Amino acid sequence: MSDIVTPTLDNLSEESRTFPPSDSFAAAANVTADAYREADADRLGFWAERARRLDWATPFEQVLDWSNAPFARWFADGRLNVAVNCLDRHVAAGLGDRVAFYFEGEPGDSRTITYRELTDDVCRAANALTDLGVRAGDRVAIYMPMIPETVVAMLACARLGAPHTVVFGGFSSEALATRILDCDAHVVITADGGWRRGSVAPLKPAVDDALAQCPDVDAVLVVRRTGNDVAWTEGRDHWWHETVDPASPHHDPEAFDAEHPLYVMYTSGTTGKPKGILHTSAGYLTGCSWTQYEVFDVKPESDVYWTAADIGWVTGHSYIVYGPLSNATTSVLYEGTPDFPDKDRWWSIIEKYRVSILYCAPTAIRTHMKWGHEYAARHDLSSLRVIGSVGEPINPEAYIWYRSHIGGDRTPVVDTWWQTETGSIMISPLPGVTAGKPGAAMTPLPGVSADVVDDDGNSVPNGSGGYLVLTEPWPSMLRTIWGDDDRYRETYWSRFPGRYFAGDGAKRDADGDIWLLGRVDDVMNVAGHRLSTTEIESALVANPKVAEAAVVGRADETTGQAVVAFVILRSEAGDGGPHVAAELRDWVANQIGKIARPAQIMVVAELPKTRSGKIMRRLLRDVAENRPVGDVTTLADTTVMETIRSGMASSANQED
Ligand code: WTA
Repeated sequence: MSDIVTPTLDNLSEESRTFPPSDSFAAAANVTADAYREADADRLGFWAERARRLDWATPFEQVLDWSNAPFARWFADGRLNVAVNCLDRHVAAGLGDRVAFYFEGEPGDSRTITYRELTDDVCRAANALTDLGVRAGDRVAIYMPMIPETVVAMLACARLGAPHTVVFGGFSSEALATRILDCDAHVVITADGGWRRGSVAPLKPAVDDALAQCPDVDAVLVVRRTGNDVAWTEGRDHWWHETVDPASPHHDPEAFDAEHPLYVMYTSGTTGKPKGILHTSAGYLTGCSWTQYEVFDVKPESDVYWTAADIGWVTGHSYIVYGPLSNATTSVLYEGTPDFPDKDRWWSIIEKYRVSILYCAPTAIRTHMKWGHEYAARHDLSSLRVIGSVGEPINPEAYIWYRSHIGGDRTPVVDTWWQTETGSIMISPLPGVTAGKPGAAMTPLPGVSADVVDDDGNSVPNGSGGYLVLTEPWPSMLRTIWGDDDRYRETYWSRFPGRYFAGDGAKRDADGDIWLLGRVDDVMNVAGHRLSTTEIESALVANPKVAEAAVVGRADETTGQAVVAFVILRSEAGDGGPHVAAELRDWVANQIGKIARPAQIMVVAELPKTRSGKIMRRLLRDVAENRPVGDVTTLADTTVMETIRSGMASSANQED
């Protein structure tokens, strides 16, 4: 762990109103304050009860095995099938005609998919994947747009016990190849493309490029979504409509051990190499199923639930797919962007389907704020009754705007803190219990044990800041980093031995409630996406013109943070030419994906380094955020910061 900075407590607004639940909401809420008492009295018993909400082929006796900490085993002697829990059991309970998804395609094509139809499709896909050679334990990579087939593909893998790794469709072929190779997937599921702002965003070419580096992939299943031409490799490529559609809708599910791997989700860490976060079956499903029910107060028979996130991120996994489906919820699945064909698209979708629960990221809320509340005002949003936020700290202004302009000053706002690693929500208000406080994620959920500690690992008093840790294992926790147990132990369990180090700064306010203050490591959060400074630096130095690079995140009003890169060019590259900044920004987009494209690139002659040669990113952040540069006494050359700052001032903002 390098460059840990103590989080600051400034920049918190003066907003001091709190919003208690209405009496009627509290009276009908799924969960009351008793849940905290129950979990406090018997934490493992509490989780065992929640796990029993699932359908077990072999019930478990053992709740937690922590004897080989930090490698947890939950409910380990039980067996179940995750897909059966999301589908078949609901059909068997007479809910086959309930809508699982209202799919809204970007061009406006919509489809309604019932639980019965989804079950049949998943069985067809499971049969087709079996024919392509997929067996329990095999990894399958999924690189798809936001369409129903993506959900079908994931659940078909789950049904077969074949862990999926979904790679966000915005990632480059390089990033896709790295992930396929890291988890050794032999099958890839993709589409010809997806729709984005009225045009086709192709996907298949990136797969073809990636597979040039992945000789072990022997089958590619391709959904025809956009109808654009795609290159075809005979024998390897198979159309979904020719393979899955004609397959039998009957498939006998096998039950798997509770700890059978369910999926690997790659996320950025503090080194260049993304980490494959491994989630297993029963504990993960217990966590996302229970928290979806508890935090959003979901009434599956009447609510319409919408997580406006991409399935390629953990939020999509837990709160578009596994959580909602395990509870037989009706969800919206939307393919496109919030501003196509106009900036009111989200609000028109809410009106159209009478969405009652919305879950999205603060960056989206701030974008809507910037566009103006008149777009929301054009639509009837009175169906909403709970609205949630995830992915980054929600500033009080955005919280108040969200609550009043979207929630009609009526709906509870749940600010939910969690991570790819935690699998499900850990810290959040309960909408029927907690008085919401703008900007605070409030308290750990029942059954979750969190603390805020100082550098030495001591709990901080109210009114102080420190590092967020989780002090007890929880069912949906990551089990390891794929193929790298040492990195798992090192990254999460060594900073504060025996406790899970989240990498986030936090404070406890005077009431003891928790506020998240952002990352304390070299991970940035840009528009709710986790990006690693080192990963972008590695991409930059892979360019023949670049000798050295340092990347920092600077504060950005809309996206939370924006990427700023400082680069030293190789001498043979001269001054790099007039377009070097644009060229390097595109280079990063090609290497990693557009989300990683730096907002600004500064060509500098030197980087601030300590005498031992470590780049002092803290100082670069000061420059990028236009603050007086902090303590430079440990720099090898104290003049370097002045040179950089004067260069920075003269360089135009390159953001597009
Ligand atoms: C940040 C997304 C403040 C945090 C589910 C965490 C938040 C990282 C919140 C995980 C929140 C998430 N308030 N910060 N409510 N929720 N974060 O893995 O820095 O993509 O460590 O998971 O997002 O991002 P990830």
